Amino acid sequence: MPYDMILILYETRNKPRLSSKGDRRKANAMKITIFGATGATGTCLVEQAVATGHQVTAVVRDPARLATPAGQRLRILTADVMDPAAISPAVAGADAVLSAVGPRGSGPTTVSQDSARSIIEVMQESGVRRLITVSGSVVTDVGEGPLMSYLLKPMVRRTLLRHVCADMRRAEEEIGASNLDWTIMRPPRLTGKAATGTYRTAIDRNLPRGYTISRADLVTCMLSLLDDEASVHRHIAIAN
Ligand SMILES: NC(=O)c1ccc[n+]([C@@H]2O[C@H](COP(=O)([O-])OP(=O)(O)OC[C@H]3O[C@@H](n4cnc5c(N)ncnc54)[C@H](OP(=O)(O)O)[C@@H]3O)[C@@H](O)[C@H]2O)c1
Repeated sequence: MPYDMILILYETRNKPRLSSKGDRRKANAMKITIFGATGATGTCLVEQAVATGHQVTAVVRDPARLATPAGQRLRILTADVMDPAAISPAVAGADAVLSAVGPRGSGPTTVSQDSARSIIEVMQESGVRRLITVSGSVVTDVGEGPLMSYLLKPMVRRTLLRHVCADMRRAEEEIGASNLDWTIMRPPRLTGKAATGTYRTAIDRNLPRGYTISRADLVTCMLSLLDDEASVHRHIAIAN
């Protein structure tokens, strides 16, 4: 049996089933804080979180760029994620924190690592434990087929995504070394396509032929994991 087929047998399709509680489902309404809310993924995250009944605090550098207007379920805090004192009021009292912060561009960067460190510091001070962040499938080859493992991914890690990948790995290390209840999402290339509700996930390894995921489906999955204990201290690969 081909290697890919063996892996697919272990995959979950549509329903992460990360929890013994059952299938993918909406988490109970929570107070959640979203970093990177003016980014492409953050925009989806805010929209879906508000629409599914969560009380959201969106942390932004420029509130004019937030797509969803402030309202009963959306509080906006203008602050730089890199400044722990400034973001502390956004984290205090939250049930969970989600971050879609990442570098804009592919040059040398510490945005993922520095934002993770700042968020972790504030969460530890505030006693907030649940953290879900977005990394990328580029950081690992586990679960990939030979073409990706031996040719394509090593190539992009040496070239186009060299700095971004190094930063993601350092961010993952910061998060992994924390005592928080973290989950790290590892999506492949993100698209702006509409939500399908149909995606594959895998735990602590990548998905064979997992080339893209829509941001809309990624954030649906992130929100479904908010209260999923089985996803704690796990890296979740996801792909359409
Ligand atoms: N694009 C892909 O195909 C892909 C693939 C795999 C993983 N990822 C990861 O997925 C996540 C979301 O991707 P995306 O394409 O939705 O991101 P994006 O649209 O580029 O948004 C990035 C977010 O990070 C914030 N940010 C960037 N630099 C910052 C800085 N120096 N200080 C404070 N905030 C800063 C931005 O804030 P402003 O709006 O204020 O600039 C924005 O909210 C990122 O972590 C990315 O690395 C992306």
